[in-house]
Amino acid sequence: MTNPTLELMNNRVSLRVYDDRPIPQEVLDTILHAMMRAPTAGNQMLYSVIVVRDENTKKILSQTCDHQAFIATAPVILVFLADHQRWFDYYRLEGVGEYCDRKGLSFEAPQESDLLLAIEDTMIAAQNAVIAAESLGIGSCYIGDIIENYEVHRELFDLPDWAFPIGMLCLGYYRENHLRKPRKRFDRQYIVFDEKYKHLTDEEYRAMYAEQAATFQPDNPYGADNFAQAFYARKTGAVFSKEMARSTRVAMKQWDGRLLNPKIPQK
Ligand SMILES: Cc1cc2nc3c(=O)[nH]c(=O)nc-3n(C[C@H](O)[C@H](O)[C@H](O)COP(=O)(O)O)c2cc1C
Repeated sequence: MTNPTLELMNNRVSLRVYDDRPIPQEVLDTILHAMMRAPTAGNQMLYSVIVVRDENTKKILSQTCDHQAFIATAPVILVFLADHQRWFDYYRLEGVGEYCDRKGLSFEAPQESDLLLAIEDTMIAAQNAVIAAESLGIGSCYIGDIIENYEVHRELFDLPDWAFPIGMLCLGYYRENHLRKPRKRFDRQYIVFDEKYKHLTDEEYRAMYAEQAATFQPDNPYGADNFAQAFYARKTGAVFSKEMARSTRVAMKQWDGRLLNPKIPQK
């Protein structure tokens, strides 16, 4: 079964080499409109998006996001913020704190659950942008490393406490004759379960990873004995992952649910 939407989704690849053509504002506006049509929890739109076209900012991002040079070559970068700031600014503006005092309710600052919900909103919107862009001949690549260097990004974009950069998209037109190489995925049986979680056996894990494990190079730079060890060294346990963890911990300190009631002294 297929149709143009499914074909588009099947043919999408992450694009890291961009045509020189700029993205016209009206095309970007169309992408941003589709992005904002994404489902959003309680119709709250718990995200903000910063459009970056400035060359210097792109250069900085290409360094702060794990030194990925191609980032600076993208005509447009979208930085996605999980954002609860505007609702809480509005709550304060409209006396929610006083209301809570009057009613004996606690008025709590955004906390971990609010951040997770905002992240859901944000990344769903981001993926709408990916699909809309793709439909207009514009490729994209997510940059997870925007989670690194929270303090630098906070200053760079003048972020308030409750706006956390959770995703980034590089956007640019596909070059003519760009060879799309769709990357394989794990077999569905390991990803989609019926009714309950499936706890995989050792054999199933080995089968699941067999194709990737076959690419293992014994003379790898990590001194690893197998694919899992090498992958851990390159990704999960790598310096950039440690930086993501540190950066996230710093940012999370703001999402602490502290009481904001006016009658309670603020931190
Ligand atoms: C959350 C997220 C973070 C990503 N971060 C990066 C990144 O920092 N650099 C990069 O080159 N690709 C990044 N990617 C792209 C993935 O590497 C890519 O989606 C994956 O290899 C599958 O390839 P495909 O998108 O072409 O199907 C990221 C993708 C996602 C969803």
